Amino acid sequence: MSANVERENNGQEGEEAKKGRHMGVGHKSLLQSDALFQYILETSVYPREPAPLRELREMTAKHPWNLMTTSADEGQFLMLLVKLINAKNTIELGVYTGYSLLSTALALPEDGKIIAMDIHRKNYELGVPFMEKAGVHHKIDFREGQGITLLEELMQDEKNIGFFDFVFVDADKDNYLNYHERIMKLVKVGGLIGYDNTLWNGSVAAPDDTPYPKYVKYYKPFVMELNTALAADPRIEISMVPVGDGITLCRRLE
Ligand SMILES: C[S@@+](CC[C@H](N)C(=O)[O-])C[C@H]1O[C@@H](n2cnc3c(N)ncnc32)[C@H](O)[C@@H]1O
Repeated sequence: MSANVERENNGQEGEEAKKGRHMGVGHKSLLQSDALFQYILETSVYPREPAPLRELREMTAKHPWNLMTTSADEGQFLMLLVKLINAKNTIELGVYTGYSLLSTALALPEDGKIIAMDIHRKNYELGVPFMEKAGVHHKIDFREGQGITLLEELMQDEKNIGFFDFVFVDADKDNYLNYHERIMKLVKVGGLIGYDNTLWNGSVAAPDDTPYPKYVKYYKPFVMELNTALAADPRIEISMVPVGDGITLCRRLE
């Protein structure tokens, strides 16, 4: 979710927001300079953004929950990452309309597969036409339900244990540590997990009385607990990357 949540939440476009076209939907940057973020988008991200992704982003911008979408710069980062690790079998937990899902699907090889999970199928369905247009819908196996239940279902099949190359988690932040224990069984040794929003609008480093929206305050302790736990987990090596709202990359060691 966005670093400029408050500005976006009150529905008023402030002077700052008017300055940059990236403001509002998809503004996830924690960069202190909005101009710098705009520069990144206009120089490196938008010119390289595949048309179906751009169209999905534009459709999502009109959706009432658009604050939830993954930002274009993070989508580009995910695409590169998926290719760099030669991922073939992946899981995505937290789909919404599918910007990160489509980014991953575009980066996977033709026979790659993503098991995509979300409690709401209807938002995913809004994105399906864009995935079909991109010619990657066949890579996606969408499953509707609670993340924990769906991960446990996967774990019941022995062939899924240590099978996945990449797992991207962008769902309910108060469950990330529960997801982590299950995902550690599903991802292969040497495989990668990405936990999204680990800088949580910058709130993790802000005083508790900072006037963030209620949901930011609510999830802040969970995100901080996750960050501490990941840093102390000897089964992984990590890097907290300040792209978007912060994505912590974890490589399974054992
Ligand atoms: C921030 S959005 C995901 C954004 C998405 N990655 C994108 O690219 O637009 C979070 C998603 O997590 C889903 N979610 C929330 N709680 C969940 C749960 N317990 N199990 C599965 N999905 C959940 C929500 O329905 C929502 O679609």
